[in-house]
Amino acid sequence: MAQDRRHGLTLRRLRQDPLIRELTRQVRVSHTQLIQPHFVVAGLKGREPVPGLPGVHRETPSSLVDQVGRDLEAGVSKVLLFGVPAEKRDGGFAFDFTARQIEALRQQFGANLWIAVDVCLCSYTKHGHCGVLSREQDHVVNDASVTELARQAVAYAQAGASCVAPSDMMDGRIAAIRTGLEAAGLERTLLMSYSAKFHSRFYGPFREAADSAPRGGLQDRATYQIDPTRPQDAYASSLRDAEEGADILMVKPGLPYLDILKDLSSRIERPWAVYEVSGEYGAVEALAEQGLMARAAAHVECWTAFVRAGASMIITYGARSAREWLSA
Ligand code: PBG
Repeated sequence: MAQDRRHGLTLRRLRQDPLIRELTRQVRVSHTQLIQPHFVVAGLKGREPVPGLPGVHRETPSSLVDQVGRDLEAGVSKVLLFGVPAEKRDGGFAFDFTARQIEALRQQFGANLWIAVDVCLCSYTKHGHCGVLSREQDHVVNDASVTELARQAVAYAQAGASCVAPSDMMDGRIAAIRTGLEAAGLERTLLMSYSAKFHSRFYGPFREAADSAPRGGLQDRATYQIDPTRPQDAYASSLRDAEEGADILMVKPGLPYLDILKDLSSRIERPWAVYEVSGEYGAVEALAEQGLMARAAAHVECWTAFVRAGASMIITYGARSAREWLSA
């Protein structure tokens, strides 16, 4: 028998004040889940702001250490480092500039800092692609790229990276990197695969920061990044990368691929990361800048969606503001 109800209030009873709302939350976001990306660029005179990403800079080696130190004080103990070398090549890449920055961070901050490092060739190649091109310059050659990427990952792990994070989307790179790490005696280095990385238009501000936009004949990354219409590929690639030895899997971008995150995180039992990429972060910032969106609450709303969909960690340009925004 239905109860005799004097009021229409049912679900709203649990929303009536902030205290009951705190008690009934199903999902909580913590600044401890967030990873702050950094760009360190060889040959810069001074740090430069990144267009579209307020508060984010292309750092010099010394400004990087200062920024990471300030961030640690703000509660950010996890970083994702992108190194941009002075010289671009077609092959025979030199990874020493980025390796030196990893060493410097490790020396300065020791075990207080978790250092993930992006493994990809797009900031290293003249053409801006994530791998090496064929002699005819008409396609990205898979296996020759994988060889370079494995060498890059081992160099960064040897320099003291906690985690290497390949974002190139070549086939077979996770197995090659894991084999390379083991051969070098680096069995404790974590491997985070950008396993479900889509061919997206939301990477714009990043490519300015990392100087990595594709140039020349092959205009885009459609032959290696996942097509937005292909959720099956995201599953296949994530499953394969887990089997090849990835410790952490990732969906990227975040909000436009929330369905993928929800689906994959329930089907593949690994820690899931999500990358809130430059274009999606910047879109919120652009509206906030015009006074059309409440900055802190809007960012927290996006992060909440990621956790709800199954992410245990979030790579976001807003990590350094999180403690402030989450308590607002
Ligand atoms: C490099 C790489 C990209 C991003 C991370 N690693 C760009 C791309 O694939 O072109 C994008 C991150 C962002 O937009 O914030 N392969």
